[in-house]
Amino acid sequence: MLPGMRAIIVENPGSESVLRVSEVAAPELVPGSLRVRVAAAAVNRADLMQRQGMYPPPPGASELLGLECAGEVAEIASDVTDFRVGDRVMALLAGGGYAEEVVVDAGSAMPVPDGMSFEQAAAVPEVFLTVFLNVFELGAFPDGGTLLVHGGGSGIGTAAIQLVSVAGGRSVVTAGSEEKCRKCRELGADVAVNYRDGDFVAACREATNDRGVDVVLDSIGAPYLEKNLAALAMNGRLVLIGLMGGAKAEISLATLLMRRLQLIGSTLRARPVAEKAAIVRSFWSRFGAALEKGELHAVVDRVLPLAEAEEAHRAMLASEHFGKLVLRT
Ligand SMILES: NC(=O)c1ccc[n+]([C@@H]2O[C@H](COP(=O)([O-])OP(=O)(O)OC[C@H]3O[C@@H](n4cnc5c(N)ncnc54)[C@H](OP(=O)(O)O)[C@@H]3O)[C@@H](O)[C@H]2O)c1
Repeated sequence: MLPGMRAIIVENPGSESVLRVSEVAAPELVPGSLRVRVAAAAVNRADLMQRQGMYPPPPGASELLGLECAGEVAEIASDVTDFRVGDRVMALLAGGGYAEEVVVDAGSAMPVPDGMSFEQAAAVPEVFLTVFLNVFELGAFPDGGTLLVHGGGSGIGTAAIQLVSVAGGRSVVTAGSEEKCRKCRELGADVAVNYRDGDFVAACREATNDRGVDVVLDSIGAPYLEKNLAALAMNGRLVLIGLMGGAKAEISLATLLMRRLQLIGSTLRARPVAEKAAIVRSFWSRFGAALEKGELHAVVDRVLPLAEAEEAHRAMLASEHFGKLVLRT
């Protein structure tokens, strides 16, 4: 029997689900991995879906919630050479972050920059790597380009605004209140549109001399599909990473054909560890220095104790937050 640890478990997965602290077995170290003593883990929208039973972990991954964490390396598999016990790391996880310990593939871990707290670091991997993969790699965001990202006040949005700005590009964002729009502009967004009464297609055209944006990063899905395509420039890319507004839509394929647009769907969690390691390496070589210099940072809305995971989920569901919600173990 493995030693135990405290973790959050989901009781009654589904619409009546409840999060509780429980004692569970600690995960086993496997080849290629690190055991991390988790100091902090961040909350993601996907965690809300997982507890509903709608986003199961990929085969072999921890059943526990938690797609990212930061903490100290406590143990290292014998075939891992690039980390030492005691190193401060932040890591992308396929699950298991809402716990005192997690085992993570070494390729999914990054060093925590000096001066960055574990609470800050825990909120970096999932959203910064997702934006990097989808905007810069799959979306081929060009130098000096313009991005449209929905939910500018989300974890994803706050990472996208900063990455695009550090890369010398421009961003147009949507958000559901004037206050969130103002905070997005303060963070570096060039244009912020309140989607409750504003027209983001017109804002994209205006921001680009009527040309349209190069890339759209969308997590809303069906209700925005037609407008997202209208916001794109010729040869533009729409990268779909979420379906918060629905999955079924009808469009004229002539729009894609005549304007040479690309529609790309993408997930990060279920990718093989070797692919994730390649994404982590490319991200670090392009943006690691900016993180170390403090030019990029996770926007942390609030930090709660792990035992208050339920309250963090409530706040996220209500979209009260700007940036990330973090749990301290
Ligand atoms: N495919 C992948 O690999 C991947 C990876 C990570 C995340 N994601 C997806 O990315 C999305 C964001 O994740 P997150 O963790 O950053 O979530 P989050 O912080 O909870 O953000 C969701 C945001 O969407 C905004 N929003 C809701 N309805 C909107 C609408 N109609 N138009 C514009 N904004 C709207 C909400 O705020 P306001 O309404 O108050 O503005 C909120 O800021 C989720 O769908 C998640 O599943 C996908």
